[in-house]
Amino acid sequence: MSYFCAMESLWDNIFEEDKKRIDFLRVELNRHNHNYYVLNSPEIGDKEFDMMMKELEQLEAQHPEWDDPLSPTHRVGSDINKSFIQVAHIHPMLSLGNTYSIEEVGDFMRRTTSSLMGEEFEIVGEMKFDGTSISLIYEHGKLVRAVTRGDGEKGDVVTDNVKTIKSIPLALSGDDYPEKFEIRGEIVLPWNEFERLNKEREFNEEPLFANPRNAASGTLKMQNSAEVARRGLDAYFYYMLGDGLPCDNHYDNLMAAKRWGFKVSDAITLMRSVDEVDAFINKWDVERKNLPVATDGLVFKVNSLRQQLNLGFTAKSPRWAIAYKFQAERALTRLQYVSFEVGRTGVITPVANLDAVLLSGTIVKRASLHNEDIIRSLDIHEHDMLYVEKGGEIIPKITGVDESAREIGNGPIQFVKHCPSCGTLLERIEGEAAWVCPNKYGCSPQIIGRIEHFVGRRMMNIDGIGEETAGLLYEKGLIRNIADLYCLSHEQLRVLDRFADRSAERIIKGVEDSKNVPFERVLFALSIPYVGETGAKKLARAVRDIDTLMAMTAEQLVEIEDIGPRIAESIVEYFAEPVNREIVERLRSAGVQMSMPEDVDDGRTNRLEGKSIVISGTFTHHSRDEYKALIEKHGGKNVGSISKKTDYVLAGENMGPAKLEKATSLGIEIIDEDTFLQMIS
Ligand code: IVH
Repeated sequence: MSYFCAMESLWDNIFEEDKKRIDFLRVELNRHNHNYYVLNSPEIGDKEFDMMMKELEQLEAQHPEWDDPLSPTHRVGSDINKSFIQVAHIHPMLSLGNTYSIEEVGDFMRRTTSSLMGEEFEIVGEMKFDGTSISLIYEHGKLVRAVTRGDGEKGDVVTDNVKTIKSIPLALSGDDYPEKFEIRGEIVLPWNEFERLNKEREFNEEPLFANPRNAASGTLKMQNSAEVARRGLDAYFYYMLGDGLPCDNHYDNLMAAKRWGFKVSDAITLMRSVDEVDAFINKWDVERKNLPVATDGLVFKVNSLRQQLNLGFTAKSPRWAIAYKFQAERALTRLQYVSFEVGRTGVITPVANLDAVLLSGTIVKRASLHNEDIIRSLDIHEHDMLYVEKGGEIIPKITGVDESAREIGNGPIQFVKHCPSCGTLLERIEGEAAWVCPNKYGCSPQIIGRIEHFVGRRMMNIDGIGEETAGLLYEKGLIRNIADLYCLSHEQLRVLDRFADRSAERIIKGVEDSKNVPFERVLFALSIPYVGETGAKKLARAVRDIDTLMAMTAEQLVEIEDIGPRIAESIVEYFAEPVNREIVERLRSAGVQMSMPEDVDDGRTNRLEGKSIVISGTFTHHSRDEYKALIEKHGGKNVGSISKKTDYVLAGENMGPAKLEKATSLGIEIIDEDTFLQMIS
């Protein structure tokens, strides 16, 4: 054998081994995801899982030719923005007829008996998950498309986002699934993830999600699938459609779906009589409160597919199913007074302080009234009796007023005109419902709020300073702004009451350690209005240092991905204030990071530097937008039309004949997507 033949066969062997290992890791990681996210019984620890994932990522990076959009490595999502394509549903996504009374569920059972000419039937009882519905299409056991309900006729294709949900199987187990089928379910945000998300949003002074349903549907429609992946969505499945389903009844089909890897609720129960249905309702009306996800009712479905077919549909819903909705829990309580609270950004939030009342197991004493418009639309008067609800909404919500209980002389609630803390005349931001205190640098709750934000875990992570300590340090005059933190001495801290040596030590060390916090987090920590965590990251990576950022105009800033005009103007305004520039300088002299280190990048290279590339046709591995972003990430320029100056045409399927002819006549190199991916890898 010649040297070259020997080398070639050696390479073939290595390639074959790599392919086998990739296949093995994909199957294993999918199995462990299913064990963890669906069965709640992991077989291996996080570390082992992460190591397998890392190995697969490395192998896939070495072999882009074996990329598979369904590989578990693709569940992390992508930072690339794209708008959604709409498609028509194969079968319209109808809703369910619903009722709030047990009696009407009985009527449904009797109606069904009579429509089936007295024939006996089984009924399946299920939870009604309170999320957002999704239709998944599987072909040959692989997820090919995920579509939202939309208007019922057509919905948005959200496959990339859905792929980040770890409990959804990308490839099915077993072999008895139909060649092609559709399965429908509900995408939900579990209570614990919902609470975590809202805490985070409260901290960042972003509007809170009223309930997990809004949070789930908002998340599913996010443009950035990497953010979707971080949010912790889950999904339960309840309806399968298609030819060649494994069984002739709904219950067994769902059990088959469970075997193939889908999450199907354990509450699902097969019943025969009205009494069993009543008992099911009574049981779950109570026990649903212990479930990890929000439910807003129960669903009852005729089990036999033949009987379902006989019963058919009305224009809006199936005649073979009904939803029983749980009553939202509501209480009536007296408004003591409305307080007005000042946040870090100066926004004034009105809060209803109530006579304590028990609602869904918790005592409610306060409820946000959000803004002046809400107080006006509910027409709340002093000491009114207010309805407080807490249905699917974990946050108590004022839903109305019992006007009959209003006492004469109690006038409408007046929104404050001046800041309740510093007395400054409030301003209303154009186009927004919020009133704001403009005294940014003299209003103590705003200053303390900014200090609290600065020291927070996800910002400078200064150990030892919490909400209370930040307030204490400010009130004792030890700090007036975030830069003062870097001048604190051990002696100053020790003289404060309640401050032991150890606490003082902790703070000094926390401040010292914060000098190593990367620039992107420093940028977030500064409390520039509208610059959140993700925005700060994008900015830091684009500008690389604070001097560049401070010198930029709003027009230049909006050129940065995800930076809109409102954020851009806010950044310019922030740095136009001499106090802020001074703070930045003092932080810089204290040693705080004001630039990105040279070697920190997000996979950017200059492999395509100076190259002008035209994209044409449709692609398999990435969308056109993704290719555009990849060209830019690697230093190239994406241009719209072919000219002498074009270096490459990145051609997918169905490249336009005119473009092909022009590129050929100008002698421009035409590359396919695999070649392109190799060029940048
Ligand atoms: S069956 C043709 N089962 O409720 C009927 N729907 O009001 C298909 N939902 O759009 C739906 N849990 O988003 C069904 N166990 C369940 C459900 C359920 C929640 C949602 C679903 C649907 C809406 C109908």
